[in-house]
Amino acid sequence: MPPAREQLLEKVKGVDGLLCTLTERVDAELMDAAGPQLKVISSMSVGVDHVDVPAATARGIPVGNTPGVLTDATADMAFALLLSAARRVVEGEKYIRAGKWKTWHPQLLLGADLAGSTLGIIGFGRIGEAVAKRAQGFDMRVIFHDPTATPAFGAQPVDLDTLLHESDFVSLHIPLTPNTKHLVNADFLAKMKPNAILINTARGGVVDQAALYDALKSNQIFAAALDVTDPEPLPMDSPLLELENCLIVPHLGSASQRTRDLMSQLAAENLLAGLKGERLPNCVNPEVFLSPP
Ligand code: DGY
Repeated sequence: MPPAREQLLEKVKGVDGLLCTLTERVDAELMDAAGPQLKVISSMSVGVDHVDVPAATARGIPVGNTPGVLTDATADMAFALLLSAARRVVEGEKYIRAGKWKTWHPQLLLGADLAGSTLGIIGFGRIGEAVAKRAQGFDMRVIFHDPTATPAFGAQPVDLDTLLHESDFVSLHIPLTPNTKHLVNADFLAKMKPNAILINTARGGVVDQAALYDALKSNQIFAAALDVTDPEPLPMDSPLLELENCLIVPHLGSASQRTRDLMSQLAAENLLAGLKGERLPNCVNPEVFLSPP
């Protein structure tokens, strides 16, 4: 289990470097509890929404993350969720274990085809692109929404409304920021097709879960497959857990042995560079190296 907040505030006193994961909230209070000698914050994650980066920058502290090494693993998980939700793999597995499998039936647990369908990718960075690459192999049409990205792997850029109106699958690959918080709300879901499947391997906070529950419960959309929730872990009384058309796994996007080894290594390299006062191999606030606070 991650350390309790009080324990963390106590243990952090006097450290020169902080190596954290996404389970720790690294905010101004924690940085100040560490003290003015704190030289570096290194997170074993690509997402840094758990770190108050402006507060670190204001203190001249570089923040390291681990991009690149988890691209394929996370894209694989997005595709695993997409296929599982489309072909109702988890529902089928539960069906057998519940002793319900009596015969083959032409209409048993019918799902969706991938070939010829449209995949809409929101956020076309490294992971979004890697998902598009996989979709090519499944003969899917791919469109994306990302005003800062250039097309790749046959994917066509479109505005958000077009993406929502045309996609059979919508996969989220954007960071959690104040601008993307609850991007997936009732309005967003109302624009999706009734057969559409939402896949989230980004951050739970991007989705308004109450709105998602309503959309799934009323079959406004076909299904959702979530690797991330808000909060994590998802409380056992979350209404999402009552729904057959909502597949949830416990934030496993980067959870392959090789990927986690590479993430640990990169996080350690960032930490050691920061302790030596050198530039971090991967730094989210490189401006700290230009102008001392
Ligand atoms: C990250 O690194 O941000 C991922 O969410 C961990 O899998």
